[in-house]
Amino acid sequence: MTSPNPPSPFWEDRFSPRMAHVRASEIRELLKLLDQPDILSFAGGIPDPTLFPVERIQSFYAEILADSGQQALQYSVSEGLPALRRWVAERMTRAGAPCDAENIVITAGSQQALDLLGKLFLAAGDTVLVERPTYLGALGAFNAYEPTYADLGGETPSGARLAYVVPDFANPTGRTLTRLERLKLLDRASEGEFLIIEDGAYRELRFAGTDEPMLLALDIARTGSIEHARTIFCGTFSKTLSPALRLGWICAPTPVVDRIVLLKQGADLHASTINQMVAERIVSEGYDQHLGRLRAAYRERNSAIQDALARHMPMGVTWTKPQGGMFVWVTLPEGLDGARLLEAALAEARVAFVPGAPFFAVGAQANTLRLSYSLPPLDAIDEGVRRLARVIEDRMASRYSAAMVAG
Ligand SMILES: Cc1ncc(COP(=O)(O)O)c(C=O)c1O
Repeated sequence: MTSPNPPSPFWEDRFSPRMAHVRASEIRELLKLLDQPDILSFAGGIPDPTLFPVERIQSFYAEILADSGQQALQYSVSEGLPALRRWVAERMTRAGAPCDAENIVITAGSQQALDLLGKLFLAAGDTVLVERPTYLGALGAFNAYEPTYADLGGETPSGARLAYVVPDFANPTGRTLTRLERLKLLDRASEGEFLIIEDGAYRELRFAGTDEPMLLALDIARTGSIEHARTIFCGTFSKTLSPALRLGWICAPTPVVDRIVLLKQGADLHASTINQMVAERIVSEGYDQHLGRLRAAYRERNSAIQDALARHMPMGVTWTKPQGGMFVWVTLPEGLDGARLLEAALAEARVAFVPGAPFFAVGAQANTLRLSYSLPPLDAIDEGVRRLARVIEDRMASRYSAAMVAG
C-alpha cells in the first residue's frame, strides 16, 4: 500500500553530505519492539530506575527553587557551574588525575562530550581507532564528522587522529583494560601522535576487584601535568544519579576546554542550571554511600547472571565476567548469528537481548550478543537465561544435523 503522504523528493538533495554517514541505530529500532510486558529483556542498557535517588532529588529541587529560584531558572555560564566543576576536579584529583576546575567543562551527558570532541578534532576521512566491539553511541556521535575507523587492536595506521576507549566495564563487553594494556596504549599514542578519548561512563560502578588507574591519571603521572597529557576523560552522572539530569563532563588540558566551551556555546549555551545545582547538592553529601548501594545491587545482579550462564549455557558458548558496570558479552559458536537468534528468542522464548554485530565499526563478529543485567528483576534472571540457552541449544543442534546431512 502506498502512503497517502509520500515524502517529498525536495528534501533528499537538501541534506548535507555528512548525513550519508548518519543512520538510525539498529538497536533503537529494535528496542521499540520490546515494549511488551511478557518479554524478559536483557536488552535495555540503562540504569535500574529503582536505584535513582528520587526523594533526595525531589527535596533538592524544592529547596533550590525556594532559596535561589531565580538563579536556578536563569541562563548560566557555558563551562558549567563553578561549584560543580570544583567538585568534579577534586574527585578526579582524588582518583589520581590532578587537575583544577579550569580543566573541567560540564556537558549535557557524556554523549554531548563525544559529539563536541568529534566536532573539535575530526575532519572527513580522519582515522579513529576503536575497540572491537565499541560503544555504539560514540560511533553515532563521530559519524557526523565523517571519519574512517580502524581496529585499535591492529597496527596503528599512519595519521591516526584519535583513539576512543571505554577502559572500565565497557559497553558492550563489560571488559576492563589491565594497567599494562593502559600503559601500552599510552606508549602507542605518543609513538603514533594520536590523542586518546577515555570514556569513563561506568568507572564508578566497580563491584569486584580493585580500581585500575584512569588512562588520564597514568598520562599525567608520565607527563607531569594535565596540561601535557594527550588523554581527554569523559565522565557522567547518568549511571550514578540519573540519566535524565543530562549531566556529564570533560576533563582535559585548558586549550581543549577553552575550545569545547566555544562549541558548547554554539550547541546549547550551557547544561541545565537547575539540574547542575541539584547534582552539586547530591554529590556533596552521601555520594559514596549512594554509590555503595548501586554497586551492591549490580554485584548481586551480575552474580545471578553469571550463575545462570554457568548453569544453563551449552558447551561452546563463552561470556565475559565483568567486575563492574551492567554488561555481559556472549560469544556463540561460529556460524550462529546474534540477529537471527534474537528473532527466534523473541518468537519462541519471549526473551530479548542486543545482537553484537552493530557494535563493530570494523570487522563485525555476528556470533555475539550483549546481555544487560541492570533491568530484569533479580528473580527473573535465571529463567531468562534458561530460555535463551534453550534457543541457542536448538540452533546448535539444527546446525549440527544440517552439517551431518551435508557431510
Ligand atoms: C560507554 C558509554 N558512554 C557514554 C554514554 C552516554 O551516556 P550519557 O550521555 O547519559 O552520559 C553511554 C550510555 O549508555 C555509554 O554506555
